[in-house]
Amino acid sequence: MQKLIKTLISNCPEDTIQFAKDLSKTIPYGSTIYMVGDLGSGKTTFTKGFAEGLGFSNEVQSPTYPILNEYSNSKNFIYHFDLYRLKSVSEFLEIGGIEYLSSTNGICIIEWPELIDSFDIENKFKILFKVNGSESSRTIEVYK
Ligand SMILES: Nc1ncnc2c1ncn2[C@@H]1O[C@H](COP(=O)(O)OP(=O)(O)OP(=O)(O)O)[C@@H](O)[C@H]1O
Ligand SMILES: [Mg+2]
Repeated sequence: MQKLIKTLISNCPEDTIQFAKDLSKTIPYGSTIYMVGDLGSGKTTFTKGFAEGLGFSNEVQSPTYPILNEYSNSKNFIYHFDLYRLKSVSEFLEIGGIEYLSSTNGICIIEWPELIDSFDIENKFKILFKVNGSESSRTIEVYK
């Protein structure tokens, strides 16, 4: 059972980006973040802010794995996964998913992580994104 450590009511994409930038300074390398929430709830927007917060501006689409984008500087990485189109856990294993999850100088940020929900992961954070009634309002909850 994870514990709620931060909550934000975000009223626009910029709020979400700023929240992600701030949070990026508190999450150590070697961590994994599961991002759970509906289509368009702000998971990718959050990831962009998170990478920006760590000073990573270069987003590189992996040439071999369309479900993975990497951000990097000279020594650290963000591995941004989107498992929406993944059909089985074996696909995740085939692309070296476990190796990415075990990286000590990287942070894995995973959209649509339900497929690998049962994985036993150290230093795992979970962020829930909820779309509220008004168009651009989102509730973001961070669990550790
Ligand atoms: N408060 C907000 N926070 C984040 N995005 C917002 C907010 N209000 C409106 N938006 C808009 O909602 C959309 C969020 O898209 P985004 O790609 O980040 O969602 P997602 O959760 O990654 O979706 P998907 O599951 O399809 O990958 C963007 O078009 C963004 O401009
Ligand atoms: Mg997305």
